[in-house]
Parts: sequence; C-alpha cells; structure tokens
Amino acid sequence: MEGIDKTNLPKHIAITMDGNGRWAKTKGKVRIFGHQGGVKAVRETVEAAAKIGIKYLTLYAFSTENWDRPENEINALMTLLVSSIHKETKTLMNNNIQLTTIGNIKSLPSNAQKKLEEAIEKTKDNSKMMLVLALSYSSRWEILNAVENIIKDGLTSNQVNEDTFRQYLTTKNVPDPELLIRTSGEQRISNFLLWQIAYSELYFTDTLWPDFRKADLEKAILDYQSRERRFGKTTEQRQK
Ligand code: FPP
Repeated sequence: MEGIDKTNLPKHIAITMDGNGRWAKTKGKVRIFGHQGGVKAVRETVEAAAKIGIKYLTLYAFSTENWDRPENEINALMTLLVSSIHKETKTLMNNNIQLTTIGNIKSLPSNAQKKLEEAIEKTKDNSKMMLVLALSYSSRWEILNAVENIIKDGLTSNQVNEDTFRQYLTTKNVPDPELLIRTSGEQRISNFLLWQIAYSELYFTDTLWPDFRKADLEKAILDYQSRERRFGKTTEQRQK
C-alpha cells in the first residue's frame, strides 16, 4: 500500500468487471471458466478495498444487456452468483461488509433473489464497507424508472431538482463514485451509472478482470490521487 495517501481515498469506487471471456479464451477454456476466475477477483478486490479503507464498492456484475447472452451463459452466471453469495456471506461478516444491490432485482431468478435477500438481511448492520452489486442494471433503465416513479408520486415540475431526482435512483443510499475503473482495455461506459459519474475520474486498465488483484486496485487509487479534481472550477479557485 506504499504511496497511498489515506487522507485522500475515494469514498466510493465503481468497477466494470470486463474481460472474463477473453481471459478464458487465452487459456483455451469456455467462457464460464472466465466467470469462475472473475469470482476469485471479486473476492480479493472486495477484501482489499475494505482493508484499504474504501467505504463503498460497486461492482457491475450483470447488465440489462447481458440478458441477450446465450441461455447457458446466463444460467451459469446466475448459478455462480447464487453459490458465491452463499459461500461468501461468511467473508462479508468476517470483514464487517454490508451487501446491497442496485438494478431490476425482480427480473432475477427467484432463488437468486432469495439468496440476495438473505445476505442483505444478514449483513445489514455491518459498517466497514458497503458492497453494491449491480445486477440486471442499466443506467437508462434506472433513469426511466426514476421518471416513472416521479410521475406516479405526482411531483410537480418545481419539485424536480437534482436532490429529489437522486432520491428516485437505485443508488439513493450511496454517494457518487469518485473513481470508476474498467478492466480489459475497453474504454466505454456501457450504460453504467450515467447520472452518478458526472464528476468521476475514469481509470482504464488492460488487465482482464480475472487477473485483477489488490496491487491493481492500489495502482488505480494512486493514479486517482495524482489527478486534480476541479469540478468545473479553475486550479486557483480549488486552492482557496
Ligand atoms: C464481463 O466479462 C463480465 C461479466 C458479464 C460478468 C461478471 C460476473 C462475475 C465476475 C461473476 C459473478 C459475480 C459476483 C458478484 C459473484 P465478459 O464476459 O464480457 O468478457 P469478454 O468481454 O472478454 O467476453
């Protein structure tokens, strides 16, 4: 952890975990093998983030668009999700980590919903870090869902502002991420947290997700700490 400034940590890091399929391919294996490797990277990254002192970690685990993948891959991902939650709840408890989700959770298979509910309930009083799994999530879905609920609740136009709108997003209990990481060399947002990343620093690495470890997370944080965040202001204004 050498070099990391503990007084300037991002409170919230969001990660688009990409490259599982390509990682498997380089090893001559099927895509599911890559997702299994991805689970190991999830475990290590979650533990590392908590140890470093990150307060919120959001992982893009399954997008709305992922429902278009071949049925056997979707089934394997859901099975992996259920078994990982079952196995890792103990790790979450040992590390004082609270689990939550964002996304259209009702669209997940009922056994996955049940496992998630159990783990969310069990970890609800943990306070070291919040792990947010984005499942069946897409930002456009989230924004449209917010607009629909604002209309259903009968808000008037002068009641709709940034603060009220934020309350209708699935991330309402989570501050905006200061840092967004995407692995595997792709430099896209892919419908992830469009509202929330308005001022986030973006970090892209060629590392494929199953190879991502604590050292990669630390490298991303160091890079973040080398940047000057101005929020539209000048350097001089920021220094005042
Ligand atoms: C992207 O790689 C990864 C996914 C679509 C799934 C991520 C899921 C996991 C890491 C496992 C389950 C998660 C938890 C939280 C236990 P890709 O398949 O798009 O890779 P490619 O671009 O190389 O094809």
